[in-house]
Amino acid sequence: MDIGEMFTDALPWLKKYRDAIIVIKVGGHAMVDSEARNGIIKDIVTLRYMGMKPVIVHGGGPEIDAMMKKLGKTPSFVSGLRVTDDETMDIVRMVLVGKVNTDLVALISRHGGKGIGLKGIDGNLLLAKKKGPERITVEGKDVDVDYGWVGETEKIDPDILFTMLEKGFIPVISPIGYDRDGRALNINADTAAGDIAASLKAVSLLSLTDVDGILMDPNDKASLLSHLNIMDCYDLIKKGVISKGMIPKVLSSITVLNAGIESVRIINGNVKHAVLLELLTEKGIGTQIVKE
Ligand SMILES: Nc1ncnc2c1ncn2[C@@H]1O[C@H](COP(=O)(O)OP(=O)(O)OP(=O)(O)O)[C@@H](O)[C@H]1O
Ligand SMILES: [Mg+2]
Repeated sequence: MDIGEMFTDALPWLKKYRDAIIVIKVGGHAMVDSEARNGIIKDIVTLRYMGMKPVIVHGGGPEIDAMMKKLGKTPSFVSGLRVTDDETMDIVRMVLVGKVNTDLVALISRHGGKGIGLKGIDGNLLLAKKKGPERITVEGKDVDVDYGWVGETEKIDPDILFTMLEKGFIPVISPIGYDRDGRALNINADTAAGDIAASLKAVSLLSLTDVDGILMDPNDKASLLSHLNIMDCYDLIKKGVISKGMIPKVLSSITVLNAGIESVRIINGNVKHAVLLELLTEKGIGTQIVKE
């Protein structure tokens, strides 16, 4: 395809997304490879130059795991959420805010964009409350789990984001919420991205991860489910097909759909130009979740 054709084919999408707020959740698992991470950020800076308003929410699971192990701690997850004791909370803050966030803002800068790093406390963006203990069933047995310093969103104040977007910045958000006493809480990055997208009334939420989308069989790429509705999602969680980190991803997609946002997709961030392909071509990739 010649370059002129490439741009004119993208014209309907450029019109659709001009000025649109697009929330992009960059999974920790999508940026293990530094080339992939660089490519994702370059695509996002390109979107901004095309007139879109991307907002990044990032994860950092693999980097948090690596730091925990260095410090002699064993990561533990229940229903896709990291059980977070006092020391883990400190590690999560140091890795997400100190390292991952700063690295992403630096990459934006390297590609000629203006990134601005934020966490929940900045501009009172994300007020959270501690998630209470839960009784869940594991292998047929009921067990009580206390997630520790894991938070749920209580209120989002998107004002700081609108202000930054108007000024041409690309906000980069670490999913650390703060409660009314100023205590830091660890929020799953997909949960935070969904709540932020809903409060911004974003046009689209893209969640970039390390798999092609929701798979019926995790070992078979060909089992990709390209369309799912909300009922299908609950059913697949119940059956255990959707598990681990895919659970909060799907639940946050449902939150976003219920807030009236039409386009929610889970895509593979390791595919070259996944973001541009998804937004600027006819051919959607990954899994699209729809209401009905
Ligand atoms: N049905 C499924 N289809 C595809 N992946 C699934 C499914 N069920 C569970 N998963 C798991 O979900 C993972 C993606 O979620 P995960 O939380 O690990 O990554 P992430 O959200 O991209 O990274 P981070 O949590 O660091 O931001 C996949 O790598 C896979 O192991
Ligand atoms: Mg995750």
